[in-house]
Amino acid sequence: MGAGIAAAAVTAGDRVRMVDIDAERTRAGVDKARRRAARLSETDGGDLSATSWQADLTDVELVVEAVAEDRDLKIATLRRALEAAGPDAVVATNTSSLSVTDLATQSRAAERVLGLHFFSPAHSSRLVEAVGHPLLRDRHLACATGWAVRLGKTVVQVPDAPGFLVNRVARPLYLEAERFVEAGADPADVDAQLRAVGLPVGPLEIVDRTGLDVHAAVSRQMYEQRAAAHFRPVAVVESLVAGGRTGLKSGRGFLEYVDGRRSPRFDGQTSDAEAIGPIARLVLAAYVNEAALTVDEGYADRETVDLALKLALSHPVGPFGWVGRLGGGDEIVRMLAELNRRHHSDTPTAQSLTTGSWT
Ligand SMILES: NC(=O)c1ccc[n+]([C@@H]2O[C@H](COP(=O)([O-])OP(=O)(O)OC[C@H]3O[C@@H](n4cnc5c(N)ncnc54)[C@H](O)[C@@H]3O)[C@@H](O)[C@H]2O)c1
Repeated sequence: MGAGIAAAAVTAGDRVRMVDIDAERTRAGVDKARRRAARLSETDGGDLSATSWQADLTDVELVVEAVAEDRDLKIATLRRALEAAGPDAVVATNTSSLSVTDLATQSRAAERVLGLHFFSPAHSSRLVEAVGHPLLRDRHLACATGWAVRLGKTVVQVPDAPGFLVNRVARPLYLEAERFVEAGADPADVDAQLRAVGLPVGPLEIVDRTGLDVHAAVSRQMYEQRAAAHFRPVAVVESLVAGGRTGLKSGRGFLEYVDGRRSPRFDGQTSDAEAIGPIARLVLAAYVNEAALTVDEGYADRETVDLALKLALSHPVGPFGWVGRLGGGDEIVRMLAELNRRHHSDTPTAQSLTTGSWT
């Protein structure tokens, strides 16, 4: 992620310095960022170079840390960045699952530490979630979000809650697709039905590409943090991992891969773009419901949820854009009851779906 963020910044005209665990890895990161930047623009790569914590970094105005997802490592890195950079520098964490409030508080300079959550690939993805907290100063938030906008990103402000906004709302796409496989569906068919309605990549291929071991760990963590029955991890994922099927990196996960590509290139059963396959209908219903729950709980308004999910996932529409095509709120509520029955799950129904205000 760090190389992608650096590439976006240097392409926007920033002077960028990168630092990793040692000189060799720092150089590798710089090379990677240069390759990414070359894909974004035809310039020579701009002002991008390696640095070290020993260098004079007091003129640095903004730091984005993208070290591995480990609380202690993040806290140590934030403290180091705050010490090295100028006294007014803003320091952002790209964490995707840790509490930004906790990290900021532990950093000892919470007023200038915030979350800037990029999506993969960071150099070209269009969304950034900005995660604030009560101790953050407004001007530091404005500085960081203004910078992300200058990089060409759309910035949405989201609460410091498990999964922030996008990863929470998208969760049912993965979990429900997995539950269908657990119930006997062919993974290739599940993904093909979702691609047939315009999703660029099926949810099972996405988790395969993430790595099923990583995905399983994130699922367990999200379930613990959210304490919501319908976020229960799906056992089939653990079985695949136990059998060595960790996804793309092992050549086999839910699907099979040859030379980094899905194999065979099974492209689905429906040629009628208006018809949504039966599994895709139910998976999308669970996704829309999670989006509605998020709005009902006051996390974000409907427009923000639609915009964020559409941009982050490169979907043709945001979650509420599916309501009409799925037959309206009442039909979605009926499908949720069907899903709960079929998968013995316990998904709560969003109140706003039953009141009909979405149709
Ligand atoms: N991969 C994604 O799709 C994605 C999406 C959004 C956010 N994130 C977040 O971005 C962060 C990085 O994720 P990633 O997938 O790029 O991980 P990664 O493992 O590919 O990269 C982590 C980098 O941190 C470096 N590092 C480790 N210890 C360090 C130290 N002590 N000092 C300096 N550098 C150190 C590693 O050498 C490596 O270059 C995580 O917080 C992750 O949650 C990742």
